[in-house]
Amino acid sequence: MSSEAAIRILLVEDSADDEELLAFALRNASFAFSIQRVDTEPDFTAALGTPVDVILCDYHLPRFSMTRALQIARHERRLDIPFIVVSRLIGEDAAVDAMRKGADDYLLKGRLGRLPAAIEAALERYAARRDAQRAAEALRRSDLLNRSLLNSISMRIAVLDAAGVVIAVNRAWKEFRREHGAASPVEGASFLDHLDATGVPSIAAMRTGIEAVMQRREPRYGVEYELAGRSGGRWEMLRAEPLEDSEHGAVILIEDVTPRMMSRLALQDALSRVQRVSKRMLTLQEEERRSIALELHDDLGQCVAAQKIALHSVQRLMAEGPHASALQQSLEIADEILAKMRSLSYSLRPPQLDHLGLAPALEALARSQQQATGVSIACRASGLEQRPPAGVEGACFRIVQEALNNAARHSGATEIVVEVEAKERILRIAVRDNGRGFEQAEASARAARTGSLGLIGMAERAELAGGRLKVRSVPGSGTAVTATFALDRPWSEV
Ligand SMILES: Nc1ncnc2c1ncn2[C@@H]1O[C@H](COP(=O)(O)OP(=O)(O)OP(=O)(O)O)[C@@H](O)[C@H]1O
Ligand SMILES: [Mg+2]
Repeated sequence: MSSEAAIRILLVEDSADDEELLAFALRNASFAFSIQRVDTEPDFTAALGTPVDVILCDYHLPRFSMTRALQIARHERRLDIPFIVVSRLIGEDAAVDAMRKGADDYLLKGRLGRLPAAIEAALERYAARRDAQRAAEALRRSDLLNRSLLNSISMRIAVLDAAGVVIAVNRAWKEFRREHGAASPVEGASFLDHLDATGVPSIAAMRTGIEAVMQRREPRYGVEYELAGRSGGRWEMLRAEPLEDSEHGAVILIEDVTPRMMSRLALQDALSRVQRVSKRMLTLQEEERRSIALELHDDLGQCVAAQKIALHSVQRLMAEGPHASALQQSLEIADEILAKMRSLSYSLRPPQLDHLGLAPALEALARSQQQATGVSIACRASGLEQRPPAGVEGACFRIVQEALNNAARHSGATEIVVEVEAKERILRIAVRDNGRGFEQAEASARAARTGSLGLIGMAERAELAGGRLKVRSVPGSGTAVTATFALDRPWSEV
């Protein structure tokens, strides 16, 4: 027993001599102590107003009674401290009666040698009892907290032990059973057996997932599934999490994710519709460009060519006439119109792209850009013996076209390289310039403000043709636009 704090003894005793006797008996006790002696009820009650560790009470008191003292201590004050009867003479019956009324022990004044041990033992008993009460209270509180927490959550929750037996089911699950007439896990029964009865899809995979978490082979498990219902489908998500601070067992959580899933499905649906529309628009755009290019080349081009022949005939007839120079000028204008139409027709839809393939089309594009801008443009192609799908070719051509335009307009580059390479079923195109580069976040913000569509359009075209676009640009160090396409997937015809 700790001897740090003195044990405060309240002695109910009329004789000062007997107090001395008691103090003498305690002289060799292993604990320090203080004694306060009282022998009337008012003094006794007053003394209980200050902390007391143990009450020693004489059985025969001329002005007070032990039974009354016991009643005050136990019933009126509800004191949880030892009460020991000390008496000169006490019959067996009186002693038993005192114990029954709440005394802890009794000692004869003639045999006080046992007093220190009796006090110590009683104090230890009380301390142990208080500890047990405190532990039980803590347990009750934590149990209450756990239950309140479990019950306050709207998800359905079940806690499983190492054998998969349900230890607890929360209120949400019980209410769910009531509302839906559905099976619900039962405390004390196997959770996996319950699962079998629910009719959720892919139960085998679910069982495996939950077991893996229970046996700590996986840190967690989650699955979303649809339940067919009378009023339409219902989406749920089941998760299994390991039970905290335990080597086995799991917590199962089921959440109704129907609203989230509906929004996700609606979003997916909207996205795929937008994609379909975008694809369709790009296809139409290409078709229209192709037909305008043809029209320009075949129809208008033929007309101007015919006009040139007519002008030549007139020129032959009036070679020396006064209008010779005007005729010559008309012929030159016709040539100019033809050249411009050819270039316009080409940029709308280069004939090489349809007839010869990507590499010749890109080479011609690079040549014409170099002529127009004076910037050196190298074009390298490899691995294109077999033609990629038309949709990919079209997307590649438009991406390179826009990247070259950007490089010419914004970069101030002196050299541009266009590379196209098909290798190991991957088609990669790249346009690199050695220009000033740009800050991408800034450019995106500016593009959003001004409605520029170049960079966005390139990414969109790549994605719609099943590929991916990457723009790497460092201010001061040039820009690289690359796009990759896997050549073994089904192609969309953009
Ligand atoms: N190769 C490049 N070098 C330097 N800056 C570039 C380069 N490519 C793009 N940029 C910057 O990114 C911005 C956005 O390019 P984007 O192609 O989207 O729009 P734009 O070329 O300005 O307009 P649009 O292409 O719609 O005619 C450009 O305005 C330019 O500041
Ligand atoms: Mg642009």
